[in-house]
Amino acid sequence: MSDTADTQLVPPSSVVLVSGGSRGLGLAIVTDLLDAGVRVAAFARTVTPELEKLAAEHPDRVHVGAVDVTDLRAAQGFVREVEQRLGPIDGLVNNAAVGQDSLHVHTATDDIARIIETNLTAPLHLTRLVIRRMLGKGLRGRIVNITSICAQRGFPGLVAYSATKGGMDAATRSLARELGGRMLVNAVAPGFFASEMSAVLGPTQLDQIVRRTPTGHLTEPVEVVPVVRMLLRDQTNINGQVIVVDGAASI
Ligand SMILES: NC(=O)c1ccc[n+]([C@@H]2O[C@H](COP(=O)([O-])OP(=O)(O)OC[C@H]3O[C@@H](n4cnc5c(N)ncnc54)[C@H](OP(=O)(O)O)[C@@H]3O)[C@@H](O)[C@H]2O)c1
Repeated sequence: MSDTADTQLVPPSSVVLVSGGSRGLGLAIVTDLLDAGVRVAAFARTVTPELEKLAAEHPDRVHVGAVDVTDLRAAQGFVREVEQRLGPIDGLVNNAAVGQDSLHVHTATDDIARIIETNLTAPLHLTRLVIRRMLGKGLRGRIVNITSICAQRGFPGLVAYSATKGGMDAATRSLARELGGRMLVNAVAPGFFASEMSAVLGPTQLDQIVRRTPTGHLTEPVEVVPVVRMLLRDQTNINGQVIVVDGAASI
């Protein structure tokens, strides 16, 4: 694909697919986009009561489903359903991921494979699926990859996880260049925030992170969602970037 940008602007996304939208940051992103008037599709392996409630409150603007992001065929089926119900997808947030809590020497081969499959291979497949359809329809769109500060700073117990997030940061840059301005492709890299994923961190680790953070508190999902919304909705020329939201903990 040509690397030459043409001069048309990429319009704000109006139908956004959020992977892992059932809880944590994904659910916060879904809620925020709905508040902004966007039509939103969200999936996770389990549809939570919170996500069901949003779907019931906004029957014309929300489509949810139980899909494992590593099951490409199921993802294809879900994308087709979304397009029928909400219209063509022109925004994607790759948010679904699994964490890790094991030193590399103690991490089972299957666990490394599962982390890579979920956090790196599956989002690459989902992105390809969505952008093929966008390009096929002549649509311009926006992609936002939720990565992590772990891709830029070292944290014990998160070796395979960090590798997947670094991989997505690298893919973000190359895809932005490959798409030649037809789509804006960016990543948001939050610092640690409270969620099911980070529940493995003990009070000592959390205290240490807070002490190292100039803004004096852990990142909150509410501090991350405006950045995701901006990348999906605002008229900017931000492309191929990784935006860190961590209160300067990593500086
Ligand atoms: N929490 C942190 O401190 C932190 C820091 C930096 C970056 N992040 C990143 O932020 C994003 C959200 O994390 P979070 O803390 O909100 O995590 P979370 O609360 O554990 O939520 C993860 C979401 O992904 C879904 N998911 C996991 N595996 C899936 C699969 N195979 N197929 C489909 N959906 C799947 C989960 O639903 P099911 O389990 O039902 O499938 C859930 O909806 C992730 O990309 C994470 O790496 C988190």
